[in-house]
Amino acid sequence: MQNNQYELSVVDIANLLDVTRQAVPQLFKNRAGAAKSNKKFSTVPPQSVREFLQTSRGYNYKKQSIAFQIVKGGVGKSSLSKNFAIRASMYGYKTLLIDFDHQLNLTVSMNIFDEQNLVWLDYLRKKTTNIFDLVKPINEFLSIIPSAPKNCLLDKEIILGAENLSSLIASPMNQLLEEYDLIICDCPPALTHLTHAIYLAVDRIIAPVKPDIYSKLGLEQVFNQWNEISKSYKKKPEINILVNMYDPRIKASTSYLQQFYAQYSTFMIPNLIKQSSEFISSMEDGEHLWTKRSTQAGEDLDVVVKHILNLYEVSSNKKKVESNKDEEAIL
Ligand SMILES: Nc1ncnc2c1ncn2[C@@H]1O[C@H](COP(=O)(O)OP(=O)(O)OP(=O)(O)O)[C@@H](O)[C@H]1O
Ligand SMILES: [Mg+2]
Repeated sequence: MQNNQYELSVVDIANLLDVTRQAVPQLFKNRAGAAKSNKKFSTVPPQSVREFLQTSRGYNYKKQSIAFQIVKGGVGKSSLSKNFAIRASMYGYKTLLIDFDHQLNLTVSMNIFDEQNLVWLDYLRKKTTNIFDLVKPINEFLSIIPSAPKNCLLDKEIILGAENLSSLIASPMNQLLEEYDLIICDCPPALTHLTHAIYLAVDRIIAPVKPDIYSKLGLEQVFNQWNEISKSYKKKPEINILVNMYDPRIKASTSYLQQFYAQYSTFMIPNLIKQSSEFISSMEDGEHLWTKRSTQAGEDLDVVVKHILNLYEVSSNKKKVESNKDEEAIL
């Protein structure tokens, strides 16, 4: 059955703050959601996490936008953007997912597809001038702007409208950032006017790569677009490369991983996501990588979320991101 309430477990909180499990109910006892703690304190609602991190740890929920993009299909853009957004919302980020892909895998996996949904094409065609009309709430901390097959016409619409690419997505996104802390965009595997406008709107591009030749070629295209943008515009996003589907049993997987680190060292996210069947079930309706406690895939992505959102700074001893053993062995 679908459960749209996404909450951190007590173990997650203990890991985050670097305290014992027993200390967690004490720390959260007088906060929102504490009523749950009397009988069975097993999860902590995002509102309580947010309140605690802000007031007790001085954590800043910095407003930011991130797009998962690369010109390569099937590397995990939709799976990673969905699970990243859900995890961020569990940490108390008011998060908005945007599905920019007309394949709408993300929209379907969030069980939000409806022919009546207003989507980006409708907004560009001025069917509504209020960008918030596109937003569908999942819960108090997570919302989504769904996609639809007709979004395949977005690029044509942009060309015909001779739109200003630097403000086309950036302007509505800035309006959305007044309401949300974090915007996570899932992009199509292409380089188009639309992806160009997305590059000009977001703070960060995360390019997921499989350690193989096809991702290596796709990555070159990401940097071509990035360089092109740098020539014509002042603002350009930060680029991070996230290795996904790494399999240490496959020699080529390690070899390409080493090549990525050698060629793009300053852009690499220092942790990787291993090949794991848990990703498939995480794209089902209402499911995510933390639905079942403690999975390898959940642990891998959690480290990345904490790294990108600077969440290691709330740990009691300000633990730094550590490379896992696999990576140490490789690098
Ligand atoms: N680390 C992983 N281990 C195993 N399978 C994975 C992993 N990450 C993603 N997958 C699976 O790979 C497939 C492709 O993932 P996904 O749809 O997220 O890729 P994508 O980049 O969004 O693809 P597209 O470009 O077609 O939109 C899915 O079946 C997903 O469950
Ligand atoms: Mg996708």
